Parts: sequence; C-alpha cells; structure tokens
Amino acid sequence: MKVNISESKKQTAKSFSEYLAKLVAKNNILHVALSGGSTPKEVFKELAEHFKNKIDWSKVQFYWGDERCVPADDAESNYKMANDYLFSKVELPLGNIHRIKGENKPEEEAARYAGLLEAKLPGHNMQPQFDLIILGIGDDGHTASIFPNQISLWNSQSYCEVAEHPETGQKRVSLTGNIINNAKEVVFLVTGENKAQKVLEIIDKKGNYNSYPASLVVPKSGRLNWFLDSEAGKLIE
Ligand code: 6PG
Repeated sequence: MKVNISESKKQTAKSFSEYLAKLVAKNNILHVALSGGSTPKEVFKELAEHFKNKIDWSKVQFYWGDERCVPADDAESNYKMANDYLFSKVELPLGNIHRIKGENKPEEEAARYAGLLEAKLPGHNMQPQFDLIILGIGDDGHTASIFPNQISLWNSQSYCEVAEHPETGQKRVSLTGNIINNAKEVVFLVTGENKAQKVLEIIDKKGNYNSYPASLVVPKSGRLNWFLDSEAGKLIE
C-alpha cells in the first residue's frame, strides 16, 4: 500500500494525473473504472487542462465503478460529469466509453453491465480484471455504491449489484468486492477534512473500520494507492 499526501485538492488531482499518465504510457490498452464525487471532478478538470496532449487517450477504455440510476443527462449522472469535464475536452474515441446506463431498469442494467465486463475485460483468476479502479470514500465509509447498511452486497457473487443510497433512496448500480479486489491496481482518491477520521480508521485498522465497505478494498495484487490531500490525511502518522 502506498499513501501519497498532497497539500491541496488541486495538487492531489495533479499527482494522480501524473500517475495515470505514466500508467497509460506503459500500457497498450488500459481498462479503467471511474467513480463519481467531488475529487474525481477535480481530476477530470486537471486532466483536460494539463494532460490533454500528454496522454494517448485512444489507449484508455473507460468504465464506472458505480452509477446513479438517472438518465445520462441528469446532473447526478457520474457519466455526465466525466463527459462534461473530460471526455468532451480530449480526443477520446466514443467506442472507448462504456457507461452504466442509469436510465435502464436497475436490475437489468446490473446484469447487462456484468456481462459487458466479462466480454470486454481480460480475465484473471477466472474473473474480469480492470487495470485500474478509481474509488472514493464517502463520509460514512462507503465506497463505489456499497454503503455500510448494505455491506453484505460487497460479497455478492455477481460483478454488479443494485444498491440504494441510505438517505435519498436513490438506486445505484455498483461493482462488488470480487471484481474490485481482482483489479491490477486500485486507487483511493480522497480529499477534505470530513474524511480524515475514516481515512485514519481504515488505514490503521482502528475503531469501526470493519463496518466500512471501504476497508474491504484489499486488492489481491497488493497494489492499493492512496491519493490524499493534507486535510484527509491529517490524522495519519
Ligand atoms: C458516487 C461515488 C462515491 C464517491 C464518494 C466520495 O457516485 O457517489 O462513486 O462512492 O466516490 O462518495 O465522493 P467525494 O469525492 O465527493 O468525496
């Protein structure tokens, strides 16, 4: 496990973008799962502004770790955010975007997307393998869209499940534990003071860490990278 701490959210986005640029350069094709949230938004802006011509975007195949069950043009759509801030600004072939269709019936979409992952991703340990999965951590310790009150979804035998936001009841389609922990690399992108306590508990295995889905992220490859800003990382030694 590697922990990178940058002084600000913008710096965190910059260090992650540099890391991604190196990973793309080393590979002929890179299958990457994105997440939603405010930290990835900053990363998309940084990539569009400073890495537009430094990354061969045609090598990157984009997927999602989770999606809100809303149409693609809804302000809540994770696809829309990536499209508005990144895809529309760089030279990315449309065929490289594999979105979770939030407008479809959630159960049907979870099954369709699991099938798509099986068809598109190379296999490893008899399961589809992402090269990189980018995850965030919610204030409550959720990751992707696996929330603490539905933590058992993590152990699902399906690659994708339908989850529900505990407060809004919004349905989500989310990757589950087996496929997340089968990735070659997993990155946690976490910024802001409100995440500091959870980050400490998860990294140091303290307090209530085992009730947080984010603490179940333990890639078999051993490659878990944290990109934090100084606020999110302020309690770790
Ligand atoms: C989503 C997510 C979610 C997110 C965390 C952290 O679609 O809501 O993918 O898991 O990554 O809530 O979000 P922030 O980056 O805003 O802290």
